[in-house]
Amino acid sequence: MIKPNVEDNLPEVLNRFRQMRNERKILQTIFDKISEDVNFQGLKLARRVLCVGPGNGEYDLEFIKRCVPKIDTLVAVEYNGNCLKELEKRCVECFNGTVKYRFYNSLFEDWVEDWTGNSSDEKFDVIIGLHVFYEMMPETRLKAFGGIFKKLLKESTGYFLFNSMSVDHLPGMCNIACEFEKHVQFTEDVVNVVALAQDMKSEVEQAGGMVVHSKDFITDVDCRDRHSDILALYRYCYSNVTEEIVEKMMKELVDGFGCFQISLFIAQKMLN
Ligand SMILES: C[S@@+](CC[C@H](N)C(=O)[O-])C[C@H]1O[C@@H](n2cnc3c(N)ncnc32)[C@H](O)[C@@H]1O
Repeated sequence: MIKPNVEDNLPEVLNRFRQMRNERKILQTIFDKISEDVNFQGLKLARRVLCVGPGNGEYDLEFIKRCVPKIDTLVAVEYNGNCLKELEKRCVECFNGTVKYRFYNSLFEDWVEDWTGNSSDEKFDVIIGLHVFYEMMPETRLKAFGGIFKKLLKESTGYFLFNSMSVDHLPGMCNIACEFEKHVQFTEDVVNVVALAQDMKSEVEQAGGMVVHSKDFITDVDCRDRHSDILALYRYCYSNVTEEIVEKMMKELVDGFGCFQISLFIAQKMLN
């Protein structure tokens, strides 16, 4: 989990960082394929959607627009209040008054523990958690996954969309962040937390779910002339990151591009 004292500018940091990546385009193609996939036609009837850590909602709304055309309720649980404000603006633009919203400014693991809804009507057809679960400590994630499969997701018709991120071999941003370890004092061991999240598929099974679809992809991060953005991003995660350290780290990137290796998953509740 990320430190709250650097939260104020998160919507801006996220926006700028997303602009450096080609991930949105890749996701659009993947989401279009999912919407056409005969195995996921149930999404066309889905109405209740829960977004976990949606940030500004950029990717979550892409998925909803392409794959969940009949949405009528969107619940978001997001730790950053400024992101929730930005999400609200985007929802108004995106849905034009056709969707009911409920936003909770909370840690998901706390929110799910307090959730008491029981009836099938209160459960969710779709739960989206992109770039959020790998930031949790394993025990927190297991609790969160347990809540999703045991409490929140509808039985056979519920879908949970989430992703993991690899920290090996590629000239990835994670590897660069590891390099920072030599230069700065960690406020939080973000990279190591990501490294602990390499087997989310079996964590999902342990929590009562099963992965029914997966897609691996690599997304580029254009770091050319974006030092101030990189600086803002890493200052978000680590203390004491300076212009000079960023400069040095960026030199290690081939052609000024970094990348992330992502695995995207769809899971359902395991049938008894
Ligand atoms: C890396 S951003 C990803 C945002 C968005 N899902 C995306 O893919 O663009 C992680 C988001 O999750 C939120 N977050 C992190 N841990 C959380 C938690 N335990 N509960 C709720 N929100 C959390 C952060 O505030 C941030 O907005």
